[in-house]
Amino acid sequence: MTDNNRIPKHLAIILDGNGRWAKRRNLPRLMGHRAGLRKLEDMVRLVKREGIRYFSVYAFSTENWNRPIMEVTGLMRLFGYYLRRKVDEVKAEGARIRFCGRKDRLPEELLRQMQWAEDYTKDEKILDFILCINYGGRAEILDAVNSLIASNPQSPVTEDDLRKHFYLPDVPDPDLIIRTSGELRLSNFWLWESAYSEYYFTDIHWPDFDEAELKKALADYAGRERRYGGLKS
Ligand code: IPE
Ligand code: IPE
Ligand code: MG
Repeated sequence: MTDNNRIPKHLAIILDGNGRWAKRRNLPRLMGHRAGLRKLEDMVRLVKREGIRYFSVYAFSTENWNRPIMEVTGLMRLFGYYLRRKVDEVKAEGARIRFCGRKDRLPEELLRQMQWAEDYTKDEKILDFILCINYGGRAEILDAVNSLIASNPQSPVTEDDLRKHFYLPDVPDPDLIIRTSGELRLSNFWLWESAYSEYYFTDIHWPDFDEAELKKALADYAGRERRYGGLKS
């Protein structure tokens, strides 16, 4: 394994534990989400410094609509606020913002801001910063299947045929998936793409995740041997 392989090309993080972080401080849950989004600002910089090329974060799942309307509305507002205020900083880092997920159900205003942020940063080439909002792995596979059928493909279809219909077909599969806050599950994130991902779980709540934690996760990843079903090299 070369040194290059020791750094994930695509790092994905399931941002979990904002609610518990707030609860522990006797704060409303939305304050936890605010702290969580603020944490993302540092993380883009740190991830770039590590030489990671793709950084995706799971910020809102297709199942998160089941939360109380107040929390959902508050989250949508926070996403909008983040985009208005922080896109310049992200762009200054050389990062291109991309969204991944279903566009339906998202507020019109947020959709406009998302489109603007994507256009505004589209020429940045150092890091792809992918925000998964209203994302679900099953929804993505289903949407890809329907889009593939609509394209009238030759049968039998191949994995590559299907992949071309995913939300971000050019993005490589995540090498490392980190989940904060102690839950040991994927919760419908990158279902197809995670087939050979490495996992790293930590009990730290997302708003407390910092540079030292990131380095710990990356060091752990660097020590793993990925075999893809083959034998030890
Ligand atoms: C993750 O934090 C953020 C979202 C899912 C939007 P949670 O809100 O799930 O935090 P916990 O799991 O309740 O602590
Ligand atoms: C996963 O967290 C989704 C995101 C972080 C956006 P959840 O808090 O929604 O997951 P569950 O409900 O604990 O599985
Ligand atoms: Mg949670």
